[in-house]
Amino acid sequence: MEISRPEEKNNLMHKPVLLEESTDLLLGNKGTLYVDCTLGLGGHTKRVLQKNPKAFVIGIDRDEEAIELAKENLKEFEGRYTIYKADFADLDAVLEAEGIEQVDGFLFDLGVSMLQLKSERGFSFQINAPLDMRMDREQKLTAYKVVNEYPEKELARIIWEYGEERLSRKIARTIVQARKKKPIETTAELAKLVESVYPPKLRHGRIHPATRTFQAIRIEVNRELESLKIALEKTLDFLKVGGRLVVISFHSLEDRIVKNFLKEHSDKLKILTKKPITPSEEEVRDNPASRSAKLRAGERV
Ligand SMILES: C[S@@+](CC[C@H](N)C(=O)[O-])C[C@H]1O[C@@H](n2cnc3c(N)ncnc32)[C@H](O)[C@@H]1O
Repeated sequence: MEISRPEEKNNLMHKPVLLEESTDLLLGNKGTLYVDCTLGLGGHTKRVLQKNPKAFVIGIDRDEEAIELAKENLKEFEGRYTIYKADFADLDAVLEAEGIEQVDGFLFDLGVSMLQLKSERGFSFQINAPLDMRMDREQKLTAYKVVNEYPEKELARIIWEYGEERLSRKIARTIVQARKKKPIETTAELAKLVESVYPPKLRHGRIHPATRTFQAIRIEVNRELESLKIALEKTLDFLKVGGRLVVISFHSLEDRIVKNFLKEHSDKLKILTKKPITPSEEEVRDNPASRSAKLRAGERV
C-alpha cells in the first residue's frame, strides 16, 4: 500500500493505547486546561481536543522528532495547544513559563512510542543500529556509555532491577568480558551477547532473551523511573480540586510507582480506578504493544 499523506504515516507509527478509557477519565471533570506529559505523536491530545471543544492542551515531550510529527497530526487544532520540548520532571518549569498555576488534569502515557521503537536510534534489538536509546538526543548519557563504561556491578544491578532479569549477573559479566576485546557498538552485538548467556533451550521462549536487558538499559539511559517519581509529586502542586491525574504504564516497576503514589497521597487524591484498567482483548489483538498497559487515575480532593 502506498502511504502518501504524512498524517496517515504518523498514525501507522503509533497507535494510542487505552485512548478512550484514558481521555474519558481525564475529561470527566469537564475542565478546559490539560497537560499531556507524554505528547508523543499527539494521539491522546488529539482526542482530548476533539472530544472537548473548549479544551486547551499543553503538550510535553523530550523527543524532538516526536514533537515534529505531533505538530503535523494536530495541525487542524492550531491555537488550542502549545508544545514544550522538556522532561516531564520539569513540568513545574513549563507551567511557570506559561504563567499557569492550576490545571484540570495531567495525562502520562509512559514508555516509548512505536516511532522510537521502529527508529534506528537503538531502542530495539530487532533493528540493528548504534547503541543510543536516548529519547532526548541532546542528553549526554547513551546506551553505548552504559554498556561500555559502567562497572560490572552497576550493570548487573540495572539489569536486575529495571529488567527483572534473573541472569543479570551473568549478562553483566559477559558484557564486560566482551568489551575488553572491543567496544560493543550496535544493538545486534548486544542482543547476541545476551542471547549467548541463555541456555539454548530457553532461547526461544515467549519473549526474546534480550528484551529485559534492553528495557533495563533504556530505563537507565532515560532515567525513566526517577523522572516519573519527580513528576507525579509535582502534579499535586498544580491540580485544581476536581483535577485529574491519569497514568498509563507499561511495566510493573512503573505501575508500582503510580500505585504507591496514589496510596501515599490518599488525603489529596481520590482513587478513580480501584483496579487498574487494562486493554480489551480486541485492543490487544489490534495492537499487541498495548498488552501490558495499566491505567490508573486519581482526582484531587
Ligand atoms: C507511549 S509514547 C506517547 C504516545 C502518545 N500518547 C500518542 O498517543 O501519540 C511516550 C512518549 O513520552 C515521551 N517521554 C517519555 N518519558 C518522558 C519524560 N520523562 N519527559 C518527556 N517526555 C517523555 C517519549 O519520548 C514518547 O514520545
